[in-house]
Amino acid sequence: MFGQTTTLLTAALVLFGLLSPTIGQVAVPQFGKSSIDDVVRAMTTEEKVALLVGMGMDLAIAGVPGMSPDDKAVPEKVPGAAGRTHAIPRLGIPSITLSDGPAGVRINPTRPDHPGKFFHATGFPVATLLASSWDEDLVRQVGVAFGEESRDFGVDVLLAPGMNLHRNPLGGRNFEYYSEDPLVSGKMAAAFVRGVQSMGVGTSIKHFAVNNQEFNRFQSNSIASERALRELYLRGFEIAVKESKPWTVMSSYNLLNGKYTSQDADLLNTVLRREWGYNGVVMTDWLAGDNVVEQMTATNELIMPGLPDQSKALIEAVNSGRLDKAVLDRNVASMLRLIEKTLAAKDYKFSSAPDLKAHAVVARQAAASGMVLLKNEATALPLKAAAKVGLFGNNAYDLVAGGTGSGNVNKAYTVSPDTGLTDAGFQINPTLQTNYREYIAKVKASRPPPHWLYLPPPIPEMELSDAMIDSMSSESDIGVLVIGRNSGELADRKVEADFDLTSNEHQMIDRISNAFRSKSKKIVAVLNVGGPIEVASWRNKVDAVLLAWQPGQEGGHAIADVLSGKVNPSGRLPMTFPLKYNDVPSADTFPGKETGEPSRLQGNPFAGKPAVAMYTEGIFVGYRYYVTQKVETAYDFGFGISYTDFSYENLKLNGDLSKSVSLQIGVKNTGKAAGREVVQLYVAAPQGSLKKPIAELRAFGKTRELRPGGSQTLNFTLTPRDIASFDPSRSAWVVEPGQYCFRFQSSPRLVRLSQCLDVPKLIEVEKVNPVLRPRVEIAEKALVR
Ligand code: BGC
Repeated sequence: MFGQTTTLLTAALVLFGLLSPTIGQVAVPQFGKSSIDDVVRAMTTEEKVALLVGMGMDLAIAGVPGMSPDDKAVPEKVPGAAGRTHAIPRLGIPSITLSDGPAGVRINPTRPDHPGKFFHATGFPVATLLASSWDEDLVRQVGVAFGEESRDFGVDVLLAPGMNLHRNPLGGRNFEYYSEDPLVSGKMAAAFVRGVQSMGVGTSIKHFAVNNQEFNRFQSNSIASERALRELYLRGFEIAVKESKPWTVMSSYNLLNGKYTSQDADLLNTVLRREWGYNGVVMTDWLAGDNVVEQMTATNELIMPGLPDQSKALIEAVNSGRLDKAVLDRNVASMLRLIEKTLAAKDYKFSSAPDLKAHAVVARQAAASGMVLLKNEATALPLKAAAKVGLFGNNAYDLVAGGTGSGNVNKAYTVSPDTGLTDAGFQINPTLQTNYREYIAKVKASRPPPHWLYLPPPIPEMELSDAMIDSMSSESDIGVLVIGRNSGELADRKVEADFDLTSNEHQMIDRISNAFRSKSKKIVAVLNVGGPIEVASWRNKVDAVLLAWQPGQEGGHAIADVLSGKVNPSGRLPMTFPLKYNDVPSADTFPGKETGEPSRLQGNPFAGKPAVAMYTEGIFVGYRYYVTQKVETAYDFGFGISYTDFSYENLKLNGDLSKSVSLQIGVKNTGKAAGREVVQLYVAAPQGSLKKPIAELRAFGKTRELRPGGSQTLNFTLTPRDIASFDPSRSAWVVEPGQYCFRFQSSPRLVRLSQCLDVPKLIEVEKVNPVLRPRVEIAEKALVR
């Protein structure tokens, strides 16, 4: 029935579009020429709904009741993009195209109408690596390259950046996100958004909010305290919204304190729009939520990817009066303001041929800038020029460039570490190289072809005979061993054989380490991972550890750049590497539990079951917990070493905390190699009625490349809001009285220089609405764990 209605409607729209924009003598308002109010007034309810319910993802492959037959009839502008909106030709409204994602433009690499031609996109490093650079300007430049590539492919809105917090190292999509800290997340997202949007392409900061696990993600209820929400889970989004004005925000799959985020007016309207001043569009995540009328009322304007039943439900709700026409009109106007900004509205003639060569250069530079040197004893690194390298581990020959799911990219190639090292003039043992390559090819040939959405099982480490290891250690100058991990949408990582190493990996490390060390040769580990793994039990068996992350298509070159010393590593950890999984403050509660309630969702094969995730650790997430509780870690948040050393000097502090404080610090390169230092400013606030972490990151910066002996002065300004805590009893951000110490540190436990100021009486910095409160009491339990 509905199918018939929309077919007639589409036919009518096409017909009107082909004819002149007048009916009889009455001019039909035209988008772009008439005011938005006039266009909205001219729209029928069906047209309005067509604009608010998207289309474009053929979900039949996944078993979801398909898209409308009419949608299939409209050719895709960008094949393989995640979705698009309906055009309304009668009113001159174009369709806009939305495409993932955080590691590159995710579209189909081939098109039936262009046999033999490829439409590859650049595979950039994952977001976690970008955050590890702590370099906002670099991330902005990467955003510019993403923007150019999106523009050239005809994409109007890029579905990135992802910016949920790394609450727990097992989060399956952490690689798509930046950090365990909201300041790092917010600043990185803002820089990225500014870069993309400077090219006339929109962004979608996602997933708003508190979507920190994949477990039953369509029906998982995140229960978090108001303070944890304000200080951590919403804070990064707040920074990104205020500093970069993203064109769109993507609400998340989960429920937050009992309500689907896409259906929660307190979250989307009260907090996001009224408190933070956001005036863009909110779209749902793909198939999220269970009530389109509530989504509309909550000001979630765009339903993606849009199903016929959802359009039907909205039309019925308007006709029966259950959905206020004013709400519909408000949302339509908001969508039109978004469309007005896009390249589609400007009829931009895109080339479908972005400058992949230039973007590969950006990808390589970014990858090298975000790698973190975790250990380097007796200057094992940099490698000596033209060294003979015994290269071990499957991922040395088969790099994990990035994760699976919507963060996947169809790239033209991936440079593996063996190729990268060879291109940099190192000698990779040919026997080992042939054995590994043949082994990996054979395992892959025995498996079904990979699918972007699903994670293939890891390839077990190739077996190495004693004789092989022995001869490699004789023939090589140094050993390099790569450990890899992958993860993606729909599943979280596991402790066994993922966070923890497999017994094969342990054996491989032992045997290679013994063989090389018995010949007084060094061994270097390279971690090709998307999140933390356990390192404490085996790191003494290697001389250096380079955290290369999932570094994108140019990863092998970037790894060689850092191992060779062409690039001096300047990355710092944007999250903690715990000693063991059980030390993680949310180890007991992650990823949540199924509740046993009946499913709220029908017809969605991914729906999973109702579940609840209790965020009982409150604000004590990541370093806020480890440092405050003096829990030893493998590597602290903010940690990373360099091939040179830095000293800090001349700390100057001016101002007072009732207005703003400005700080100045000098950083000097005291070592022998040129390099860059990440400067981290933590503030230790007094313990008042609110329990606080020992210190919290409140600002950061990065020097330019300093030559040996070179120095630079960095300036920072902090306002009361920057250092405030959230007091739920007052629904306000407050600066409690007492002493505030401003510490320049190299990580939360390594204080370089510090100065303190007194705040004589409580400052109430900003009052907010008493919303988003959990219905159950959430104590900040981590301190008594
Ligand atoms: C993901 C989003 C993505 C969307 C479109 C969803 O499954 O959660 O991050 O943008 O799909 O591909």
